[in-house]
Amino acid sequence: MNTITTLEALAISPAIRHQTLIQTFEALLPGESFIIHNDHDPRPLYYELLSKKGNILTFEYLQNGPDLWRVLVKKRIQSPDQITVADIAAADYRKAEVFGKYGIDFCCGGNITLKEAAAQVNITEETLITALEAVTQNTRFQPAKNFIDQTVDKLIDYIVSTHHRYVKENIPVIEQLVTKVAKVHGDEQPGLQELEAGTLAFLKDLQLHLHKEEHILFPAILQLEKDPHDTSRRGLVLSAVKVMRAEHESSGEELHAFRLLTNNYTLPESACNTYAFLFDKMKEFEADLLIHIHLENNILFPKAVQLEQQLSQ
Ligand SMILES: [Fe+2]
Ligand SMILES: [Fe+2]
Repeated sequence: MNTITTLEALAISPAIRHQTLIQTFEALLPGESFIIHNDHDPRPLYYELLSKKGNILTFEYLQNGPDLWRVLVKKRIQSPDQITVADIAAADYRKAEVFGKYGIDFCCGGNITLKEAAAQVNITEETLITALEAVTQNTRFQPAKNFIDQTVDKLIDYIVSTHHRYVKENIPVIEQLVTKVAKVHGDEQPGLQELEAGTLAFLKDLQLHLHKEEHILFPAILQLEKDPHDTSRRGLVLSAVKVMRAEHESSGEELHAFRLLTNNYTLPESACNTYAFLFDKMKEFEADLLIHIHLENNILFPKAVQLEQQLSQ
């Protein structure tokens, strides 16, 4: 009978901990596994393995905190049918952009297969696979940005200067367009008034969300990185991350509701140019927001929580 090795992560020096775990994984044969014991969630290791090795592992929580984490890491006998959208997005940022383009939620509701994702947005699985393959074959695309190896200050700088900036620049544009389209076409298309009210409330909440990240969470993360001995804000990162994740979840649900309301942004025959521009903008906004949330939920937040948990040891 095979025995499964258990690695006590805390018994390994932090300087070589991830490297040791990666080497242990590399030594596995397909179908073999090992267990990690840790006093905090080892999720960042999962994303590091995905990024470096591709989607060839499963990460099963045998115990999920609050004081002890036991995770079964298994090298899979590969079956493409089991690959989830979240796995693919975490391993390659360029593919996350493809999901975003089709309005596929890969950050909050990403635990679905490619087949299920394609069905949700009414395209064939082949179309989706072709688009995903194209980003690695087409030289116009930059190589995947390796966000997993970035420090938290670089990640925050990137998120704020790229995605927060995009949101702030585009909120007034969408507000104006949705108000105008609902006013002109609202009588013939009753769903437009609901879309207007929902969109305006969604954008208002999103502005508040960005404000909380920029003024509370991100400074707390940067302070943690800068001064590991400053315990004055102990616990703040963990609780703020929890709130931000919940808000991301609602944003994902609202984006999904807008898709239902507009039949995946299908224009009626009577649509004018402003109507078409509104739908194009909303699709673009959704794609950007999904990538933005993915970077926070799957890369920045696990790193920040790990920093806080290491400091409180
Ligand atoms: Fe953000
Ligand atoms: Fe966020």
